[in-house]
Amino acid sequence: MALREIVSIPDAVLRRKAQKVTRFDGDLQNLIDEMIETMRAAPGVGLAAPQVAVSQRVIVVEYGNDEDEDAPLRLYAVVNPEITRFSPETEEGTEGCLSIPGFLGDVERSLGVVVKGLNRHGQPFKIKADGWLARIFQHEIDHLNGVLFTDRATRVWKSEDEPRQAVPAD
Ligand code: NI
Repeated sequence: MALREIVSIPDAVLRRKAQKVTRFDGDLQNLIDEMIETMRAAPGVGLAAPQVAVSQRVIVVEYGNDEDEDAPLRLYAVVNPEITRFSPETEEGTEGCLSIPGFLGDVERSLGVVVKGLNRHGQPFKIKADGWLARIFQHEIDHLNGVLFTDRATRVWKSEDEPRQAVPAD
């Protein structure tokens, strides 16, 4: 396994609509393993395939729990993810992105989402996510549609001017 290079703006791959995965072959397994390794090394709480210059609908997310910072991390690898439900309740939160180094922004997102997708072997599954985990899924799935957090942010600033408090990058 190897780390992949994380591309940053203005790389065009970040603005492309990523392709649906149709083959659950060794290349996909390798991509997922290397995305997990790259996300952990960054470190980040999520990564979408276009961020490693692969225009396919694959995301990885690793996160614990909003209430308990000692909670064990849970790892998700989702192929062809889709949000099937957005809660009407929204919340503003501060986000960053490994592909937009040095910047943060406030983004309003749904407090809860239901994510439907396939696991790495092509089996369907569903995740109900709330709070920060829901935010990470919304951010990563945006990447698959060429959308960046700065497109949605009400305010963007340089992180050196105003560092955020304990908010992980994705
Ligand atoms: Ni991002």
